[in-house]
Amino acid sequence: MKTIRTETTADHEVVRQVNVEAFDKREYEAKLVEGIRQSDSFIDSLSLVAESAQGIIGHALFSKASIVVGDTNHEVIVLAPIAVLPAFQKQGVGKKLIEEGLTRSRQLGFPGVLLIGHPEYYPRFGFRPASTFGLVLKQIEVPDDVFMAVELTDGALHALQGGELRYPAAFFDN
Ligand SMILES: CC(C)(COP(=O)(O)OP(=O)(O)OC[C@H]1O[C@@H](n2cnc3c(N)ncnc32)[C@H](O)[C@@H]1OP(=O)(O)O)[C@@H](O)C(=O)NCCC(=O)NCCS
Repeated sequence: MKTIRTETTADHEVVRQVNVEAFDKREYEAKLVEGIRQSDSFIDSLSLVAESAQGIIGHALFSKASIVVGDTNHEVIVLAPIAVLPAFQKQGVGKKLIEEGLTRSRQLGFPGVLLIGHPEYYPRFGFRPASTFGLVLKQIEVPDDVFMAVELTDGALHALQGGELRYPAAFFDN
């Protein structure tokens, strides 16, 4: 039995360890989580943990970013990072975390969720190349198919066509 719930302060150390383990012992993603938590981009209810009888086995962080269209900033959600302990991968934990994050982001009224990730994984949740919505990313150079977006309500991202996603400073601080 695996449940998805909002992260609490008491989870921070385990969430750090889950990120380090999932990302081949590197610290970047764990530090990214800590940086976002301390920033204006953080939304408590969008830092999610997956829990099983063994404790916390996965974590996903959805947080605020901007799509800039002309001189207007539109708030959107970015997913980064998502981590499942290696021993628990390919059992649907990532799926549960993503689906819950998308549901909560929609309930909060955001137009869409964007990410940089594996193009074989995220389309099953409705993600498509962000370029299909006319969205661009200039801060980081990545192949077209790894910069993806999903609309949370019909037409909400298409309405931001021509916009540029801007990741907040926390993504570049460590
Ligand atoms: C990516 C990750 C979060 C997925 O979590 P999960 O619980 O294993 O995912 P699910 O059980 O929901 O889905 C498993 C599917 O994802 C696929 N998948 C997992 N990692 C993948 C990868 N790096 N590239 C492509 N597909 C991947 C599996 O092949 C499997 O596909 P299948 O259903 O067709 O067999 C997890 O593998 C992980 O923590 N990886 C290390 C950290 C990482 O890469 N994070 C994402 C950065 S974009």
